Amino acid sequence: MIDLEAVRADTPGTQHRIHLNNAGAGLMSQPVIDAVKGHLDLEAEIGGYEAKASENDRIEGAYDSVARLIGAERKEIAFAENATVAWQWAFFAQDLKEGDRILTAEAEYAANYIAYLQMAKRTGCTIDVIASDASGATDPQALERMIDGGVKLIAITWIPTNGGLMNPAAEIGAIARAHDIPYLLDACQAVGQTPVNVEALGCDYLSATARKFLRGPRGCGFLYVRRERLKHIEPYMLDMFGATWVAPEQYEMRADARRFESWESSLALHLGMGAAADYALNIGLDQIRDRAFGLAAALRQSLAEIQGVTVRDIGAEQCAITTFSHDRVDAGDIVSALRESGINASASRPSSTLLDASARNLPHLVRVSPHYYNSEDEIETFLAELRRITAA
Ligand SMILES: Cc1ncc(COP(=O)(O)O)c(C=O)c1O
Repeated sequence: MIDLEAVRADTPGTQHRIHLNNAGAGLMSQPVIDAVKGHLDLEAEIGGYEAKASENDRIEGAYDSVARLIGAERKEIAFAENATVAWQWAFFAQDLKEGDRILTAEAEYAANYIAYLQMAKRTGCTIDVIASDASGATDPQALERMIDGGVKLIAITWIPTNGGLMNPAAEIGAIARAHDIPYLLDACQAVGQTPVNVEALGCDYLSATARKFLRGPRGCGFLYVRRERLKHIEPYMLDMFGATWVAPEQYEMRADARRFESWESSLALHLGMGAAADYALNIGLDQIRDRAFGLAAALRQSLAEIQGVTVRDIGAEQCAITTFSHDRVDAGDIVSALRESGINASASRPSSTLLDASARNLPHLVRVSPHYYNSEDEIETFLAELRRITAA
């Protein structure tokens, strides 16, 4: 069982706010804060390059920590400045041509879909959306029926930005593997709130961010690249960190996934992300999932009982993201009023998941995303405040 008192004592932010915005940015734990600040202090004291040399083992160790978190090897991990960049590295390295097909999910994230549209404009490839099943999740059987020789990429979001839905990422991975189609998984909202294992998922590429449920610092994320794909994949852009200029007309790429990185990055944030991975692993991802999902499930039930509230989460399996609308009060106004009372939540606009939002005619939504360090009392306080804000 998670020691709630201990994890809250480790999380300074819990002293000041009721933080129910872990899908936006989770509260950092003290070890994460120490890792980031400690390295910045060292850079200030002895110099940035010298701090790198002094802490090199720990900096390399951050890759091991993230690899451990998702069941990968160190050489399969690259650190990025956010999940979007990590995802774009993998996506824009795909060799897509006219007539090639990208298959994606209905609840796809806006940044990803915009990239598909760009790619379609540049190359003439096409984008096909896999139908959802009756629960609202991406339907693996529908995917299976769509597969033909033209499908050159399956790219889906595991947990969308706009709700509790969990797409069947591993079932989709099994289909991608069976047909040897590259599979790019956006796991941005999954990492840190549920166990993630790239072997079980069957993905070739997986992107995530540090700041959300993983509780790392802002401005950091990572990409996983399956080792078999490393034999061929070439980043769309390379620098002298990703490759070595070995002769006037020749370069050689690094053997590992870090070929996607560039020379300069924030090592303090890398250390923070590594510390966040260690922290989550120490608590245990099964325990984290059980508590966070349990809090969200209870929250959904209580929300449904509030006059004027419609819970908007879909899918047979639901995570720690809860979304709802109110029939009279706009989501933005609810979020602002909550913030004034010391409660953090966020709002989700239809344009962040346009296909899903259009299909379900979704309005602006309030997104409430508890984590394992939230207490039952905090959820009750939030509900009481919401009742007050929305009272006619
Ligand atoms: C599903 C999903 N993918 C990707 C991202 C982008 O992550 P980042 O802001 O770290 O680039 C988000 C952020 O909200 C997201 O919800």
